[in-house]
Amino acid sequence: MEHSFISVKKFVDEPYSKIIGYPKATSRQIKSRISELEKLKIRSISLTGPTTLGNLGILGKGYVGVVVIAKRGNKEIALKIRRTDSPRKGMKDESVLLKLVNSVNVGPKMFDVSKNFLVMEYLEGEKFSDWVTLLKGIGSARKLKSTIRDVLEDCYRLDQMGFDHGELSNISKHVIVGKTKATLIDFESSSTERRPSNVTSITQAFFIGSGNARKIQKIYKNPSKGKIIEHLKLYKQEKTRENFDNLLKILKL
Ligand SMILES: Nc1ncnc2c1ncn2[C@@H]1O[C@H](COP(=O)(O)OP(=O)(O)O)[C@@H](O)[C@H]1O
Ligand SMILES: [Mg+2]
Repeated sequence: MEHSFISVKKFVDEPYSKIIGYPKATSRQIKSRISELEKLKIRSISLTGPTTLGNLGILGKGYVGVVVIAKRGNKEIALKIRRTDSPRKGMKDESVLLKLVNSVNVGPKMFDVSKNFLVMEYLEGEKFSDWVTLLKGIGSARKLKSTIRDVLEDCYRLDQMGFDHGELSNISKHVIVGKTKATLIDFESSSTERRPSNVTSITQAFFIGSGNARKIQKIYKNPSKGKIIEHLKLYKQEKTRENFDNLLKILKL
């Protein structure tokens, strides 16, 4: 899709100022955020995406941020803008966690950060639950299996490094499926202090929780929930490659 870009200078005024100072900001805050963007070499923003804020298109919104497509040099990137009512003081902590998972090839690539902005790779694609709803036709079982398998492998690498994503029970929001890869997003609630439960949380979200499990079941017959839980318990006790491989096997991946 072609995106049309609007100069960040125009974001001083309504309606655009709402995007960089959501839900409410003073004009001083807005001006300071614009100069922050200029320092990050972000010159324009595209208001397109699957969601809207007011009536402007955006990529998405959560409790911490509003995410839009922006341009840095000639490259399209995803810009996470800290909400003015965010529970987080700044974007730095999230950027450190994102950088850490990037070291094992997980998550969108982290490019830059400032107090109120996180600049990262733009992931073109759909949220897992939207993607799986539309998935049909020849090769869909193969595509679905390789997508789930890739996501589980990412989760396994995070488990191995002692990193817990924290919000993987909600895959509908935190896995973006693109043409060539699926990517975990939003490391805002992650931790290196908690006991990691990435593989278990995401397997439950894929196969045990009702919504996605029902959609997956339509494409390929998954094993009984009892059997999955039994293998998850073994893996939880000992997060070895062997236990992980056994889990993949009974999930027919
Ligand atoms: N790198 C990205 N590329 C494309 N879309 C993204 C990207 N990061 C986030 N999004 C979209 O923005 C939404 C909100 O981002 P998220 O990081 O989950 O914010 P929050 O921490 O506030 O929950 C996501 O659900 C997703 O739809
Ligand atoms: Mg989120």
